[in-house]
Amino acid sequence: AKPKRETFSGQKAFIFAAIGSAVGLGNIWRFPYVTYDNGGGAFIIPYLVALLTAGIPLLFLDYAIGHKYRGSAPLSFRRMSSKLEAFGWWQVLINVIIGIYYAVILGWSASYTYFSLNKAWGSNHADFFFKEYLRMADGAGVSMDFVSAVTLPQIGVWAFILIVMALGVQKGVGKSSAFFMPLLTVMFGILVVSSLFLPGAAKGLNALFTPNWDKLLEPAVWIAAYGQIFFSLSICFGIMVTYASYLKRDTDLTGSGLVVGFANSSFELLAGIGVFAALGFMAQAGGKEVSEVATSGIGLAFIAFPAIIDQAPMGSLLGVLFFGSLLFAGVTSLISILEVIIAAVQDKLHWGRVVSTIVVCVPMALLSIALFGTTTGLPMLDVLDKFVTNFGIVAVAFFSLVAMAIGKYLPTLAEHINRTSSFKVGKMWVLVSGILTPVVLGYMLFSELTKIIKEGYENYPDWFVNTFGWGMAGGLIVLAIILSRLAWHGRDQAEENN
Ligand code: PHE
Ligand code: NA
Repeated sequence: AKPKRETFSGQKAFIFAAIGSAVGLGNIWRFPYVTYDNGGGAFIIPYLVALLTAGIPLLFLDYAIGHKYRGSAPLSFRRMSSKLEAFGWWQVLINVIIGIYYAVILGWSASYTYFSLNKAWGSNHADFFFKEYLRMADGAGVSMDFVSAVTLPQIGVWAFILIVMALGVQKGVGKSSAFFMPLLTVMFGILVVSSLFLPGAAKGLNALFTPNWDKLLEPAVWIAAYGQIFFSLSICFGIMVTYASYLKRDTDLTGSGLVVGFANSSFELLAGIGVFAALGFMAQAGGKEVSEVATSGIGLAFIAFPAIIDQAPMGSLLGVLFFGSLLFAGVTSLISILEVIIAAVQDKLHWGRVVSTIVVCVPMALLSIALFGTTTGLPMLDVLDKFVTNFGIVAVAFFSLVAMAIGKYLPTLAEHINRTSSFKVGKMWVLVSGILTPVVLGYMLFSELTKIIKEGYENYPDWFVNTFGWGMAGGLIVLAIILSRLAWHGRDQAEENN
């Protein structure tokens, strides 16, 4: 007998899990700086356009695919058309890459939550991060010099994740998101409100929100808005397809989608306010301009924030709240990344939950530790992230949307959405998802690719970018095609298809 597909206990569990996936490092350390860098207050226009023309419509699309075809990404695409299965595997493999480096950043965040308690980082925060904590080697390469201060928290993250994933869809994914998301909201809320009381906060907010309308004429600003929306809502990653496949038949898809989209954007706005209030404080305390201290990503979290924590009243508390928020926001995103992979293995090989979890998580954990727990981890993380999030995701979204438009699957999916949803979609949705967004994505892909081909990436040696950038990206596509050709065990297309 075929095992019954797992489900979320209800719409609420699903919404928590979907928000848990959406709200992550992208909200906290990416959005504030992308906004600042792309026109400040004026960025609201491209951001909203991207949200309404791509973010929300594609969120609906992902939900519809998963909910209608009731499978992991490869199985859902296969049930739509056997020619499309490779797109599902492509998404799965992208999640493998993101998962192995996302876990590393969570490990760092855990360490820094702890360091915040006694401000263990001394006075030179960049030196501490790169030299004392990561013990980074000079230049890019591959080594086997493990750094125990980095690998130990990584092992902790993977052990925790393994247990959550083994518990399954409702008891693991659903329950953990329902626990972490409210906790995160409270912690982050306190952090943002306290940062507003720091001297200089207003200066930071002015820097963030003062609109630079001229920026709206630059195509790069619009690309940045679409890029932020895609990454932030986790659309076209196979994640929402997978989660929606665990929803009961009569679920209101668009209603949930609007809640998730709204929650994610609110969290970004909140993060922008909190981060720039803190940067304004840092600038004022050091007698500098905000432009001299504003950064994003690793630099913001692990170099700028320790400086803020050193100088702010109740700095240790702010530090624990900040790094704890990164950790909790990231954990629920990592869970969603792994669910895509585990669900695909479960479907294709017809294995049980626990076996599939172990088969996926253990090799990924080992890879993650071997590649990033060493003195050479950082450049590799940087290159993988660049290629996967700037090209991989845009490419898979572009090609899969074009294929779905050509195959005329979108009107059927619109019908499926409208059958159970409160907010109806129509022709407009089909046109936006099938034509407008692919045109924008195609342009993004083209311009990003020409840029990197012309300029190279950072100052890494060619062999390094060729191997871990281009080689990895090409390898993923080839592997996705191979996987789509392998036989399905037990549960094939005909079964469970309705
Ligand atoms: N949406 C997450 C964020 O904003 C990032 C993410 C991307 C998570 C892909 C999972 C998968 O941080
Ligand atoms: Na997000």
